[in-house]
Amino acid sequence: MKLCMIGTGYVGLVSGVCFSDLGNQVICVDKDLTKIKKLQRGIIPIFEPGLDELVKRNVRNKRLVFSNDLKNSVKKSDIIFICVGTPTKKGGSNADLSQIYGVAKELSKSLNKFKIIITKSTVPVTTGDEIEKILLKNNSKNKFSVVSNPEFLREGEAIRDFIYPDRVVVGSNDKKSNKILKNLYSPLITKGAKYVPTSRRAAELIKYASNAFLATKITFINEIANLCEKTNINIDDISIGMGLDQRIGSRFLRAGPAYGGSCFPKDTKAITSTADKFKINLSVIKSVIKSNENRSKLLLKRVYEILKNKIKNKRISFLGVTFKANTDDMRDSSSLKMIPELSKKGAIVKYFDPTGYKIEFKKFKNVQYAKSLSTCLDKADLIIIHTEWNDFKSIDFKKIIKNKKTLIFDMRNLYSPQIMTKNKLNYFSVGRGLK
Ligand code: UGA
Repeated sequence: MKLCMIGTGYVGLVSGVCFSDLGNQVICVDKDLTKIKKLQRGIIPIFEPGLDELVKRNVRNKRLVFSNDLKNSVKKSDIIFICVGTPTKKGGSNADLSQIYGVAKELSKSLNKFKIIITKSTVPVTTGDEIEKILLKNNSKNKFSVVSNPEFLREGEAIRDFIYPDRVVVGSNDKKSNKILKNLYSPLITKGAKYVPTSRRAAELIKYASNAFLATKITFINEIANLCEKTNINIDDISIGMGLDQRIGSRFLRAGPAYGGSCFPKDTKAITSTADKFKINLSVIKSVIKSNENRSKLLLKRVYEILKNKIKNKRISFLGVTFKANTDDMRDSSSLKMIPELSKKGAIVKYFDPTGYKIEFKKFKNVQYAKSLSTCLDKADLIIIHTEWNDFKSIDFKKIIKNKKTLIFDMRNLYSPQIMTKNKLNYFSVGRGLK
C-alpha cells in the first residue's frame, strides 16, 4: 500500500519505518527541512534502539523516502497518517491541536482522489469530527474518510511494540476504510494482535483512557510504596502478590520516581480537561495528576532525611536522568525537578547518563556531567539511581566507591537490600521499609 506519514517525530517515524518494513511504500513528510535532509543521509533524530538499521534497510530497498513536500507526497499516497504533536496548551491543561488542524487544512487542498486520513497522534474525543469538517470545506464527502488509529508504542520499545502489539484499534464510521486498514495490519494480526474495529470517537478515547489507566496504576503502587515504608514491608512483594491476579496484571506495578515522559503527564491532563468540557469530573485521574506532581517532592524529602538535612556541599551523583531507560527523552523527567532543587540547596551534583550530556542542566550552579560511571560515583556522598538503565544493574559499588560512607538511594529498586547490607553498603530504596 502507498502510505504517507505526516510528522517525523516519535510516532510518525517509528510507524512509517515499521510499515515500510512490512512491505509498504512509505513517504515520511516533515516541514522541518533540516530534519528531512538528515534523515535522507541516514541520521536519525531520536534515540530508539534498532531504528537506524530499519531505516537503512528500507531506504536501500526503496520502500522508504523522506520529503518536505506535503502536497505531492499526499497526492502519491492512498493512506495518510497524521502524526504531529499534540502538546499541552501553554498555561492550560487541554491539548494544543493547532498542528493537527493546520495539517487538515493543507490536506483539504491536496485530495486528488479518495484517501483515508488517519489520526495516529493522540487527540481528544471529537477531533476526527473537526478534521472532517475542515476537509468538507474543499471536498465532497466521497473523497475521503477520517479514521482514528491510535498508537500504543513505548519509547525505547517502540519497534517491538509496533511489530507485536496487544491490539490494533481502528475507529472508523466507514466500512470500506475499516477493511483496507485490517488488510494493512494483517501481518500483525496473523502474528496474534487483536484487531479492534470501533467508532472513531471510541478509538480516540481508548488511547487516552489507556494512558490514564496506566498512569493510575503506577501512581497507585507508588502510594502503596509510601505505606510500605512506614510498615516495614517490601513493595516488590506487594507488586508480585497483586500482579499475579490476572484481573490486575503484573506490568506497570513498579514503584519508583514520579512517572514522566511526553505522554502520561500530557494525556492525563488532556483527558480531564476534555471531560470538564462535557461537564464530567474525572476525579480519579485528577488526583493521580496531583499525587504524581507531589511525588518528586516526596522523594526529595527522603533524600533530605537520608542526608540528615545537611545538603550544602554534599556531593550527590545521579545515575540516569532521562524519564526512563532506553531513551534520551528528558520531557517531564523527575530529575528536572530534583536536580535544580538540590543545586539550589548547595549540593554539588554530578550526573551520568548513557545518552550523554543534557542541556537542561546547563544553567544550574554546581551541576556537572560526568563522562563515565566511575568518575560520577567515586567521591560521592550520595548516589541516586534515578533511571533503570541496564548499565546500572550490576555495578560493583565496593570497587568504584572511594568513600566508605557513601550512601546509595536506589529509586528504581534495582538491587537487593539484603545483598547490599551484606556488602556493608549504606543502601536505601523505595517502599521497602525505612532504615
Ligand atoms: C506511554 C505508553 O506506555 C504507551 O503505550 C503510549 O503509546 C505512549 O505513552 C504514548 O502515548 O505515546 P512512554 O511514555 O514511552 O509510553 O513510557 P512508559 O514506558 O509507559 O513509561 C512512562 C512512565 O512511567 C516512565 O516515567 C516510567 O518510568 C514510569 N513507569 C512505568 C513506572 O514508574 N513504573 C512502571 O511500572 C512502569
